[in-house]
Amino acid sequence: MQSMRVKGVILWLTGLSGAGKTTIARGIECELKARNCLVEVLDGDEIRSHISKELGFSKEDREINIRRIGFVANLLSRNGIVAIVAAISPYRAIRDEIRMNTENFIEVYVDAPLEVCEARDVKGLYAKARSDKIKNFTGIQDPYEAPINPEIICHTTKESIEECINKVIAELEQLDYIPKRTGTRLSNHDEKNTMMLALDSV
Ligand code: ADX
Repeated sequence: MQSMRVKGVILWLTGLSGAGKTTIARGIECELKARNCLVEVLDGDEIRSHISKELGFSKEDREINIRRIGFVANLLSRNGIVAIVAAISPYRAIRDEIRMNTENFIEVYVDAPLEVCEARDVKGLYAKARSDKIKNFTGIQDPYEAPINPEIICHTTKESIEECINKVIAELEQLDYIPKRTGTRLSNHDEKNTMMLALDSV
């Protein structure tokens, strides 16, 4: 039975706020559920309203946050679940640390230029950061260290969300983390996903 597959993986989506991480993560989740695969999304915004509620955005707090997410994702993936992480995770060293501690790790760089993310500014956080109402905002006052050698790069300004999702799904199939499916994927979701990107800010 497909849902009994035991080869889990961490799919780690990193990128600026507004790059499209959550939209892509939810799209992948949707496709995997349609295939009866075990999948869970660990989204930065959600994690921060639960297990990382007390944390801020200093380097130290972000490191704690990312280590927590990595710990939970590891528990899930080693039990056969595709654990999709959608968190800015701006520091390369911590991402690499999670990679070192995980058997199956795929890094997905959700790449969109800062100007584009800032122009989208769905939550209005970039504007607040520019006017110093928010401190330590990634890309404005704080650094974002792009992955040097990610397994996958999703260029959300050049590729559609469907293309990004399909690219990740193809890699998961290729590496035998999920069963292959023939036919067109996600055609029904394209419009919805495009809309989601417009609404999404992570
Ligand atoms: S991370 O840096 O620790 O990986 P995480 O992905 O959990 O960040 O949370 C990022 C989200 O928190 C953003 O999408 C945004 O909604 C919110 N946020 C609030 N303040 C900041 C900030 N200073 N820098 C980045 N994101 C912030």
